[in-house]
Amino acid sequence: MDLLKGTKVTWLGHSTVLVSTPKGTNLLIDPFIQHNPKFPKDFSLPESLPYILLTHGHGDHISDAVPVAQKHDSSVLAIYELADYIGRRGVTKTIGCNIGGTVQLDDVAVTMVEAKHSAGAIDDDGTHYVGVAAGLVLTIANGPVLYHAGDTTVFSDMKLIAELYHPEVAMLPIGGHFTMGPYEAALAAKFLAPQLILPLHFGTFPPLTGTPEQLAARIEPEIKVVRISPGQSI
Ligand code: NI
Ligand code: MN
Repeated sequence: MDLLKGTKVTWLGHSTVLVSTPKGTNLLIDPFIQHNPKFPKDFSLPESLPYILLTHGHGDHISDAVPVAQKHDSSVLAIYELADYIGRRGVTKTIGCNIGGTVQLDDVAVTMVEAKHSAGAIDDDGTHYVGVAAGLVLTIANGPVLYHAGDTTVFSDMKLIAELYHPEVAMLPIGGHFTMGPYEAALAAKFLAPQLILPLHFGTFPPLTGTPEQLAARIEPEIKVVRISPGQSI
């Protein structure tokens, strides 16, 4: 698609997304692989995977961050406390940042933005404070601006994300139950005014009942809702 200007965005089920820039930089967002029932069976991650980006500390967003980072020698970017948590679990290269900050990762400027969601990391020792939930804006050199909302409901300050960064592609959770559903995501689409929406966080588990069709039926036809299967790219 021309809009992406040579950037490839591959949906790997749930909220897991692989971004490959025109320069060839690969970034993996919210790796949920081994226990992700929708992760495409025949898919293998690229050998070169310098960056893993995390939106928040829930298991369905971070459960494979440590093994993947170790295998690919990746740097893991997350909100400060979550980066510390991941670092204590055996990842040597972590980048802690926070909301409003921008970190330049090769040809991608990653800005952490707000989300409305909880964010504790649950392991055998209980629930740990690992910062708050966030979204990520990826401003790609010679490419598009991508927004991955993480887990969130709609909030009116999404207008600020649009005003500041002008994302052309918005990746939004639509499943409901733990995040917004299509009804709320339709208002998010209005606030963000992207050209394309890649729906995330639906259909993975039975409670996540929202569908791309329900979202598409509620928004202006100028905004295209991408309907692809896990493993496919835009
Ligand atoms: Ni979550
Ligand atoms: Mn989630």
